Amino acid sequence: DSFKQPYRTAYHFQPPKNWINDPNGPLSYKGLYHLFYQYNPKGAVWGNIVWAHSVSTDLVNWTPLDPAIFPSQPSDINGCWSGSATILHGNKPAILYTGIDPMNHQVQNIAYPKNLSDPFLREWIKSPKNPLMEPTSENKINASSFRDPTSGWLGKDGNWRIIIGSKRNTRGIAILYKSKDFINWIKSKHPLHSAKGTGMWECPDFFPVLKIGRFGVDTSLNSDDVRHVLKVSLDDKKHDYYLIGTYNDEKDKFVPDKGFEEENIEQILRYDYGKYYASKTFFDDGKNRRILLGWVNESSSVADDIKKGWSGIHTIPRTIWLHKSGKQLIQWPVVEVEKLRVNPVKWPTKILKGGELFPINGVTAAQADVEISFEVNNIREAEVLDKWTDPQILCSQKGTSVKSGLGPFGLLVFASKGLQEFTSVFFRIFIYQQKNLVLFCSDQSRSSLNKDNDMTTYGTFIDVDILHEKLSLRSLIDHSVVESFGGEGKACITSRVYPTLAINDKALIYAFNNGTTNVKITRLSAWSMKKAQLNGNL
Ligand code: FRU
Repeated sequence: DSFKQPYRTAYHFQPPKNWINDPNGPLSYKGLYHLFYQYNPKGAVWGNIVWAHSVSTDLVNWTPLDPAIFPSQPSDINGCWSGSATILHGNKPAILYTGIDPMNHQVQNIAYPKNLSDPFLREWIKSPKNPLMEPTSENKINASSFRDPTSGWLGKDGNWRIIIGSKRNTRGIAILYKSKDFINWIKSKHPLHSAKGTGMWECPDFFPVLKIGRFGVDTSLNSDDVRHVLKVSLDDKKHDYYLIGTYNDEKDKFVPDKGFEEENIEQILRYDYGKYYASKTFFDDGKNRRILLGWVNESSSVADDIKKGWSGIHTIPRTIWLHKSGKQLIQWPVVEVEKLRVNPVKWPTKILKGGELFPINGVTAAQADVEISFEVNNIREAEVLDKWTDPQILCSQKGTSVKSGLGPFGLLVFASKGLQEFTSVFFRIFIYQQKNLVLFCSDQSRSSLNKDNDMTTYGTFIDVDILHEKLSLRSLIDHSVVESFGGEGKACITSRVYPTLAINDKALIYAFNNGTTNVKITRLSAWSMKKAQLNGNL
């Protein structure tokens, strides 16, 4: 019941029990969204991996179906690992996924729906030609680092292309394969992209984004109107990094504007600066948008995961597009999640003086959606930062209780009445090289009295021009997760927290300013969130 399970989410996707990891093969077909995901049917730790399957009409309420893909042939007998869906000619979905064979080699397999007239795509048939791609002595592919095929895209020559994550020594690689028929695949001599020192590239994703506007486009589109995004999940770092660049489909080369080799890894953009991994996008042709799904692991101990009987959730699906600067992506929760909002609370403009803390009353604080915007004047009060510092380290050195001229200010969430526990999501403004620099942090260090949890602080710099723009924050709060969007979706930080006091109706939310200078709240809108049907009936 809810007392024993205060950490189960009400509107972030999770199955009734057991371990989950990566979202797999998301697709939309005949008016239904399909989500598959890495799942252990036997327990709350990783293992026995199958593709569990849920469907939805709105990306918020989900109905579980039987697992779609599970070990059944030699080419996947030791596990059905991550992969992607492609809609082939004639609106026929196909799934490419990594199988673990009897030698524990990673190989690539294909599966098709048994019955295309079933919108639920309940049954999947594997090709007798599996595996379609495998490590051999000729191709010299590392048999334990060859996984997670992407969705396919069509080149102008009419051939399909996919990439598969790999590494050679410590060089991360996106191995490129081409095919005419999606069955017979030929490995290209050159990878689509690679970078030394980055380690294994898990769950690559490669897709076009329009230079202008928020609409998404088909994965195969390549023209002067688009840029391309390559995302890789770095196994060594456990974060999802992305590069924006140009894809030349004659040479089959991706050239990033700023790549891993030119930049320090802390300068490479991430989808999320908190707990977030193994994400994947798909093009939602019904609504002309590209949607990003991601996995959020626990921050609790394995012993606690086993006790509660489950581990892992997914984020709220996010719409993504290229910011007009062309320099970064913007992410925003799909609009459908707003259907869960009830009992709005709005504040008139309010000055938040240095040291002030205001409760946001009238919302169910453990299950809420909060949007707040700040206007900052007195820019000259900001603290001077002498030398560039890793923002995550800066956030932990200068946490919630460390005052400065401008900040910290933001939200305290999952706060207990006496503030023995709280998680704070905040901004802090610096002057660095004569310009303003905005730091965006999620501080978990006081989130729980149970010290078995990982309570690492997360943070990033965020490119907001505070002289001309409001500084906005939106947090989706859901029992053990805080998914925060800074600067209208310019930076995201997702964290997992396990309060012992601030649970259910004992949780509180505050707006706070612990800096010495006043800031103005120009907008506060907060809602209680209804429960979604995460495992509902059809
Ligand atoms: C990423 C990952 C993938 C792999 C899958 C196995 O989290 O390690 O590389 O296919 O999970 O469950």
